[in-house]
Amino acid sequence: MIYLDNHATTPVHPEVVEAMLPFLREHFHNPSSGYRASRVVKKAIAEARGEVADLIGAKEEEIVFTGCGTESNNMVLKSLARVYGRKNSRVITSKIEHSAVLRPCQAMEDVGFTVERCGVDAGGRLDLVEFKQACEGAQSGFASVMWANNETGVIQPISEASKLAKENGLAFHTDAIQAVGKIPVNVAQVPVDFLSVSGHKLHAPKGVGALFLREGVRFEPLIRGGGQEAGRRSGTENVPFIVGLGKAAALMRAALAKGGHAELTANRDHLEKRLSEEVEGVILNGNRDHRVPTCAHISFEGCEGDGLMILLDEAGVQISTGSACMTGKQQASHVQRAMGISENLAKSSLRISFSSFTTRAETEEAVEKIKNAVRKLRQVQGGSGVGPVTVYS
Ligand SMILES: Cc1ncc(COP(=O)(O)O)c(C=O)c1O
Repeated sequence: MIYLDNHATTPVHPEVVEAMLPFLREHFHNPSSGYRASRVVKKAIAEARGEVADLIGAKEEEIVFTGCGTESNNMVLKSLARVYGRKNSRVITSKIEHSAVLRPCQAMEDVGFTVERCGVDAGGRLDLVEFKQACEGAQSGFASVMWANNETGVIQPISEASKLAKENGLAFHTDAIQAVGKIPVNVAQVPVDFLSVSGHKLHAPKGVGALFLREGVRFEPLIRGGGQEAGRRSGTENVPFIVGLGKAAALMRAALAKGGHAELTANRDHLEKRLSEEVEGVILNGNRDHRVPTCAHISFEGCEGDGLMILLDEAGVQISTGSACMTGKQQASHVQRAMGISENLAKSSLRISFSSFTTRAETEEAVEKIKNAVRKLRQVQGGSGVGPVTVYS
């Protein structure tokens, strides 16, 4: 199988597995206990915290471990909702956020918060004029804009957006789940107050995340209990997974220091080049200059994306049509709609996402298989339009 769905999840790095194993076996102790064995576990958590902090330019004490990226986003947004209240405050976000931000914002709107969802341009980047107006029109409140989009890989103007929010007295959160580890993310250079991380997008396991809380920001914990994570997220720590996230963060920092995933980028660009040269009716979506190296978002005219996905799965290539949560919904995603991509073209899209484990040979093989699948589907569907798919084999 060729795995090209790394925006859905990444394989756990073998070195991450090795780092985790001792904490599943001999070092099982509760880090809050008083004996020496617990100190080993506590130290491992502290080291992992340091690694995550170093990856994003934060201080150790500004990192809180969570159960996943969705939890990190919910923790911040619900805290902000409580801190600011619904009276006289606004929630400003974008139309292209992941459901882990969209849904909490919707829940706030349902109970009376004013939520503004700013649009994006045709390349999928936040409309800064609209965002500025929204910030200027708010007396108080907060904004949440993702660092990189999960469907298109397009990097958002976070430096500009966070400055605009801060200039207008608003708190600023960014869902950086698809950015951290892929591109340089440095909270010392960008005035974000809160930043969400998810382990499984950077070769740690699923079920662990982190939240950056800038020193001095107001924060109301979502989960209260034994006071772990300095009272910001109670619950006995998921030590092996935290250790895994720390190891993954260290590996990603080393890869970025070595030139930022050059091989990975070359493979993604090669696939795009070959497909656009060798297949008719190929459209590369998303801003070309501002995107993470891991993602290609491509429309194939006259081919239903879900049909392509099924044919490719049968041929040994795992690819998504959009975000994993949109799979099977047979509709244009909210991201593609916001970009103004037509309904038909949106339904004809694939999200092809790479990791540093993807080889050039796999990339070449995937190109051939995508070409075959497109040819086959166009024959079945009569070449034009996106009709119902009746034959998959
Ligand atoms: C941009 C973005 N935000 C949030 C999430 C949710 O993260 P998790 O799966 O760790 O809950 C994802 C995962 O797909 C994502 O891509």
